[in-house]
Amino acid sequence: MADVTPDRIFQVASGFMAAKHLFVAHEVGLFEQLTRGPATLDELAQRVGIPRRTLRILADAMVALGFVEREGERYQNGLVAATFLSGRTPTDLRPVLRLFNHVTYPRWLKLEEAVRTGQPVFGELAFTPEEQRLFSEGVAAVQAAPAQALPTTYDFRRHRRVLDLGGGTGSWLATVLREYTDLQATLFELPAAVAIARPYLAGTPVAGRITIVEGDIFTDPIPDGHDVVLIANVLHLFRPERNVALLRRTRERVPEGARLLLVDFWTDPTHTQPLFAALMAGEFLLAAGEGDVYSEEEGREWLKASGWQALERKPLAGVVSVIVAETAS
Ligand SMILES: C[S@@+](CC[C@H](N)C(=O)[O-])C[C@H]1O[C@@H](n2cnc3c(N)ncnc32)[C@H](O)[C@@H]1O
Repeated sequence: MADVTPDRIFQVASGFMAAKHLFVAHEVGLFEQLTRGPATLDELAQRVGIPRRTLRILADAMVALGFVEREGERYQNGLVAATFLSGRTPTDLRPVLRLFNHVTYPRWLKLEEAVRTGQPVFGELAFTPEEQRLFSEGVAAVQAAPAQALPTTYDFRRHRRVLDLGGGTGSWLATVLREYTDLQATLFELPAAVAIARPYLAGTPVAGRITIVEGDIFTDPIPDGHDVVLIANVLHLFRPERNVALLRRTRERVPEGARLLLVDFWTDPTHTQPLFAALMAGEFLLAAGEGDVYSEEEGREWLKASGWQALERKPLAGVVSVIVAETAS
């Protein structure tokens, strides 16, 4: 008893304060302004354009959290902020902070209601156009590292045409097609997401090899003529029964020997590891009203029940991995 401290409670219970400080530091442009070089509070307040008194609170919170370093009177970006939050690198995670700040954080105020009732609190991915943009861009940023890893983790040379179901902005297809120059692709997405994907893909060198099809993966015909299908971060939005139905519908539209790549936050059998995945279960619950994180074992069962056989699971990046499956013989 004597050794027990409440430190962990305070650390976790104040987690939302750390998160909100970080969001606001990004929103006011703190990290971008520090890329112009180390600055005193007076200089930084002028650059950022907010009162010195309140900037100090934010800047020191960022120092305490390890994102900003302070030497004497001068503040400068730490390595993590410089690499991911400065807007000067290809590894830009600022869209994630914008998504969490403007869409996720307000929705989490309803987590208690969602958990207590078991009912959807928001419509299924019901977004305003601005929220849709934040969602699509934020998801693409979170998934940038796993997407980059896919073309080297999985060998697409055996395939001719890839279908990405619920493919978001098309960022996964863009990274795969850049590496495999003979591959053609189809992006299948809801119209609201396609509105973001179209201009994004048009700006990539692979646009000419990607066909965009608007539709609903549960009710519209799944496009045929593909020998590999990617389903990335879609299954965690839905109940197991709907996921099995989706995998079965997909199986019916591909030839013998086709492959299926299920990318997700696959957890251990207890759903408690990795930690980030266990926490994201709340986010997936709120997003479409019925989501969750699932274990690799659950994914394998769904595959078996829908005409597929799982071959292997491979890590991609962070907590994201891919289960590779083939049509069952
Ligand atoms: C979490 S995002 C993942 C996007 C992308 N696959 C990735 O991993 O970056 C889930 C995507 O599934 C799409 N989606 C959800 N329900 C859908 C449906 N019924 N039909 C088609 N797409 C759907 C959403 O529009 C959203 O872009």
